[in-house]
Amino acid sequence: MTNQFDRRSFMKHGALAAAAWALGRGGFAAEAADVKAVPIEHVRVGLVGIGSRGSHLLKILLGLENVKVKAVCDLVPERVAKAQEMVTAAKQAQPTGYSRGETDFLRLCDTEELDLVINATRPWKWHVPISVAAMTTGKHAATEVPAAETVEDCWKLVETAEKTQKYCVMLENCCYFREVMLVHHMVRKGLFGELRHCQAGYQHYALRARPAVPGRPKETKARTANSYPTHSIGPVAQWMDINRGNRFDYLVSMSADPTGSSSNADINTSLIRTVQGQTVTLYYDTKLPRPYDLIYRVQGTRGICMATTDKIYIEGRSPKRDTWESLEAYYHEFEHPLWKALSERAQRHGGHGGGDWLVMHRLIRALQTGTPPDMDVYDAATWSCITELTEKSVADRSRPMDFPDFTRERWKTVPPIGILGG
Ligand SMILES: NC(=O)c1ccc[n+]([C@@H]2O[C@H](COP(=O)([O-])OP(=O)(O)OC[C@H]3O[C@@H](n4cnc5c(N)ncnc54)[C@H](O)[C@@H]3O)[C@@H](O)[C@H]2O)c1
Repeated sequence: MTNQFDRRSFMKHGALAAAAWALGRGGFAAEAADVKAVPIEHVRVGLVGIGSRGSHLLKILLGLENVKVKAVCDLVPERVAKAQEMVTAAKQAQPTGYSRGETDFLRLCDTEELDLVINATRPWKWHVPISVAAMTTGKHAATEVPAAETVEDCWKLVETAEKTQKYCVMLENCCYFREVMLVHHMVRKGLFGELRHCQAGYQHYALRARPAVPGRPKETKARTANSYPTHSIGPVAQWMDINRGNRFDYLVSMSADPTGSSSNADINTSLIRTVQGQTVTLYYDTKLPRPYDLIYRVQGTRGICMATTDKIYIEGRSPKRDTWESLEAYYHEFEHPLWKALSERAQRHGGHGGGDWLVMHRLIRALQTGTPPDMDVYDAATWSCITELTEKSVADRSRPMDFPDFTRERWKTVPPIGILGG
């Protein structure tokens, strides 16, 4: 994906897009955080990329009230036909199919009257062009992870969202995992005191978990970096109020040497510091044999929790001094209100223990009620830009890399998200 392509596609999208591009970076009158959304009773959706993830998201969408899937797009005509069948089987009108090649999503965006375009394409190089095309033609955009692969592309999403006043939401389902939301709730209730440190990692022996799918293109390039950071950083960023009173300041990153024929590193480890003087350790560990574990450690002045391994210690509350206890009693007392209310539906629809259903449900509810989604374009940019920052740091003997302030100082005044749906 080159800038030439993006510029051309912008120009193809008429006066609004051309004017938006010409404005350049910075100094816009209205910011994306100010989007004045009116409630949308029936949310009209277009879906681009109907592979394994896209089909799963489509199934979830078809189970939600007042959602109409109006258009579907994929490179593979059979996948488009299968998606159309799924929609008609759910007693909705047959959606228009788009399968005339890699840029047919532009025709979809130009032609269809939609409220939301969701994209679940692979390779990732299409995520930004699809989100940008959606927003510049008047639709909200939702993208699978990562939202973008470069800092420049993160800015492109932010600027487009601000200029068009459309939402651009990255569908970070891990933010809705049961244990993540439990921690979120306990953090809001002050159980850990003042947060000082978090730790998370995408630790998933993906090569064994998912052998190469025939015909599936590889991601753009192998990167010696944390090339899949959003599942780990998303929950941590929400706990730490990032972009809402707090901000990631800089990171340093280091990679273990690659083994065998692989050209990118075995394990990437990064350290992030916030402007409030807290630290985060982040792992990307997908090449060596190991059980799956995202860690989700949170630590404050009063205690610590290792969420995925079911351990917690709260000074003065845990029965034995300096001894872990299980989270069981905490689930009874601090289960997140969203999980209390929706766990049965979320789990029935499966997918990452219910997180996949909740991320979609929350976005659709936000559109239907005219309220801001839980995650915005600044989150998408801040969480996704870690790939390029870690890549540059690794390449230069762990040189510190500053996080861009995608909010342009608005983080100082935007309030924390609070207890979601609580
Ligand atoms: N949030 C999660 O837990 C999670 C889990 C799995 C995958 N994902 C993400 O979902 C996305 C899709 O992954 P997948 O596993 O479904 O991949 P996949 O290869 O199974 O499906 C991708 C689909 O996109 C289509 N496609 C590619 N370029 C296109 C274009 N220009 N226009 C239209 N269609 C296009 C392909 O034909 C394919 O059908 C990726 O971004 C991945 O990172 C997220």
